[in-house]
Amino acid sequence: MAKKLFIETLGCAMNVRDSEHMIAELNRVERYDLTKNYSEADLIIINTCSVREKPVNKLFSEIGHFLKHKKPDAKIGVCGCTASHLGDEIFKRAPNVNFVLGARNVSKIIKAVNTEKFLDTNINYDESAYAFGDFRQNPYKAYINISIGCDKKCAFCIVPHTRGEEISIPHELILSEAQRAVRAGAKELFLLGQNVNNYGKRLGSGKKGGLNFTALLNELAKIDELKRIRFTSPHPLHMDDEFLEVFASNPKICKSMHMPLQSGSTDILRKMKRGYTKEWFLQRARKLREIAPDTAISTDIIVAFPGESERDFEDTMDVIEQVRFEQIFSFKYSARPLTPAAQMSDTVESEIASARLARLQERHTQILDEITPAYLDKVVEVYFEELRAGGVCAGRTSQNFTVCVKGGEEFLGQIKNVKITQPQRSILYGEVL
Ligand code: 5AD
Ligand code: SF4
Repeated sequence: MAKKLFIETLGCAMNVRDSEHMIAELNRVERYDLTKNYSEADLIIINTCSVREKPVNKLFSEIGHFLKHKKPDAKIGVCGCTASHLGDEIFKRAPNVNFVLGARNVSKIIKAVNTEKFLDTNINYDESAYAFGDFRQNPYKAYINISIGCDKKCAFCIVPHTRGEEISIPHELILSEAQRAVRAGAKELFLLGQNVNNYGKRLGSGKKGGLNFTALLNELAKIDELKRIRFTSPHPLHMDDEFLEVFASNPKICKSMHMPLQSGSTDILRKMKRGYTKEWFLQRARKLREIAPDTAISTDIIVAFPGESERDFEDTMDVIEQVRFEQIFSFKYSARPLTPAAQMSDTVESEIASARLARLQERHTQILDEITPAYLDKVVEVYFEELRAGGVCAGRTSQNFTVCVKGGEEFLGQIKNVKITQPQRSILYGEVL
């Protein structure tokens, strides 16, 4: 009889893919069916994130809850980024946890499950030549890792300590994984890496040569049945002309670009060690709007990084006015262990941070309210990928706007023209033509 697996995935798309990989690996050896009910599970996995501070206590109270309600012989494992940085401390604080597996070590899941008190959080482990499993939670949109780890040393970021140095996955593995995903029904690929447009700079042990990111995009686009390619996250520093031109000219590349700004102030960007200035960012965004005017630009912004003055924050607001991002993910700075910024003493008061975040979000809402009404009566091409409650099928435009229509399975995995009848702030409602 198949075993039951409960897996909780926190954090980013990379974690989603790591969870899929663990599910595929486990199923190579014996069958595991997914369950949403942890009390009937034979195996419980928490795949954690540590990018912003979530009280570590919350993780331990969650572990305690699972331990109390799990089947007596069920195993419980903590994986992912928080596992990477807490390591052995997890066993010390929660001795009934069976294994701890870092974000860079998820391909060892079978060994972890079969070894008492298995711990591996080695961030130098090279998983780049390891073929990722073919299990996908959403078969219509295939997540594919193209690199692991990150070489940038942004002063606020814990990821280099949880996922290790950047290594590109050999393009042969990526291309064959992409072909398999497309054969299995995916019309869209979502390429993943901490720094995708730096792809190809360093390959795993013994490998030489290869493709750069734009060449990889062009190769993938040759797959006939593949209709759309997305990727995240590119780094503004590596947005050279060649990259922007390939992005603009290849029709299979979705016109949605993530440009993580972090701050609009050149002084703060320097302190953050981002490697670009306000002017460079603005010039790249301007070039992108010029050569691919139908592109939606999204961004990540951190407010109240240590030392951020009112003037620095005004620079961030100025970039928002100039670029008019279609989507902003905004966060209050959160000091993370092991990062240089955590040692900086010029922290910004929490009330000031909250006020800045609120002002930024309010302005962005106004900008969206200026952008989305223009979609009324427009016809957009939507790739349907998900069923929602109340007989609704949801998909996305090339620009990554969510579109909802009345309908069901008949639309899943299909690209359809949709007339927008009710554009709201973050969802466009419409009718399939
Ligand atoms: N504090 C707040 N936000 C952070 N991010 C990363 N580290 C921190 C931190 N210490 C944000 C960045 C990044 C996104 C994934 O999370 O904006 O792009
Ligand atoms: Fe993803 Fe970063 Fe969270 Fe790790 S810490 S799961 S890389 S967002």
